[in-house]
Amino acid sequence: MIDTPIPQDIVLKKIAESNLPAVGKASIRETKRLIDEIEKESGQKFIRMEMGVPGIPASYIGVNAQIEALKKGVAAIYPDIDGVPILKAEISRFVKLFLDVDVPAYNCIPTVGSMQGGFACFMTVNRIHKEKNTTLFLDPGFPVHKQQCKVLGVPFESFDVYNYRGDKLRDKLESYLIKGNISSLLYSNPNNPSWICFTDKELRIIAELANKYNVIVMEDLAYFCMDFRKDYSKPGVPPYQPSVAKYTDNFILFISSSKAFSYAGERIGMMVISDKLFNTSSPDLLKYYSSDMFGRAMIFGTVYSLSSGTSHSAQYALAAMLKAANEGSFNFVDSVKEYGEKAIIMKKMFTDNGFEIVYDKDEDLELADGFYFTISYPGFTGEQLIEKFLYYGISAISLAITGSERLEGLRACVSLVDRGQFPTLESRLRKFNENHPLNS
Ligand SMILES: Cc1ncc(COP(=O)(O)O)c(C=O)c1O
Repeated sequence: MIDTPIPQDIVLKKIAESNLPAVGKASIRETKRLIDEIEKESGQKFIRMEMGVPGIPASYIGVNAQIEALKKGVAAIYPDIDGVPILKAEISRFVKLFLDVDVPAYNCIPTVGSMQGGFACFMTVNRIHKEKNTTLFLDPGFPVHKQQCKVLGVPFESFDVYNYRGDKLRDKLESYLIKGNISSLLYSNPNNPSWICFTDKELRIIAELANKYNVIVMEDLAYFCMDFRKDYSKPGVPPYQPSVAKYTDNFILFISSSKAFSYAGERIGMMVISDKLFNTSSPDLLKYYSSDMFGRAMIFGTVYSLSSGTSHSAQYALAAMLKAANEGSFNFVDSVKEYGEKAIIMKKMFTDNGFEIVYDKDEDLELADGFYFTISYPGFTGEQLIEKFLYYGISAISLAITGSERLEGLRACVSLVDRGQFPTLESRLRKFNENHPLNS
């Protein structure tokens, strides 16, 4: 038996007890449970990189405003379905100041997390024109979005952008859009899981083709301003968070408060609809909604049906955080820079011990350091690596579940790894490398 940081008999026993057909294929939650069990039995703490949850406390600005709102009695009152006016105004201002994009407050709608924004959109955008019923995912991506399409019965297509960066994106994207069934496309930027960021050229290509084929671009900005290679933190001052909204008027933006504002627990996000799309009319909508206008169908049809709006008090929290960010008194980007700084150190530990970074470039630019990074180890598939990692007290998820074609890869999330665990991570990686020498 080779020497591993977590005793092999314990790992083998817990794998057997888990009844999982293949550990490397388990869902994130199943993996989490297995690791909890191994931790309990071995008394050893894992380096947990499987879950993409914030690791920084919520801003007191939001928390205080929410408490104040609750004290004033909002808990007893239904909020407006499309959001309280003060929040709508701050979202619109935020979009202007951090993206340099004009969207009227009316079109800015709080949702129950960005997740609900996605669900509402898949449901609505695929009903505007009956022949356009399919969403295209620019992968790798967040698996829950595809799950949403599945539970809704919305058809989807996808491709991994890894081999189609820069100019190559045009032909590949056009090969899907030309078919005429694609209503919308979705990507996250910065990307979960790979942390690639589309370049300005790529955003222009996406917009150009969306305009040509009348396709709605759904841009998921869950990691808003978190490409730390540039400073996007100053309101109203360039550079701005890059966005397709600069180049097309056919967009929906999802801006999550979960990571940028560490407000995941209150489940509040923003859905921002371009004015042109908001006012688009189509008779096909009347089959499902009382209005043929997209914006009204979205608010009074979809959002009303789903949850009749978003938590009242959380809306005041978000309004206060946005107001402070808009006024320049709260630098929310500074609060989350720690993720990027940890990523630099952790990536080096991996690469020093024989690992490779899978998604490593934005065209010719070095990839940013942030919430996630992707790794592989020569000679292993992602599934094999996940299982091997159990013996080394390390956890991550396989890229295979994200639509990535890089089946050798894993996604590592930095947020829950404490700096105090760095020496342990380093020694476990060194041990892994010793036990799996690369030149043998
Ligand atoms: C790409 C992406 N989109 C959406 C979400 C969900 O955001 P929210 O917590 O606002 O629902 C996440 C969360 O991990 C994400 O990574």
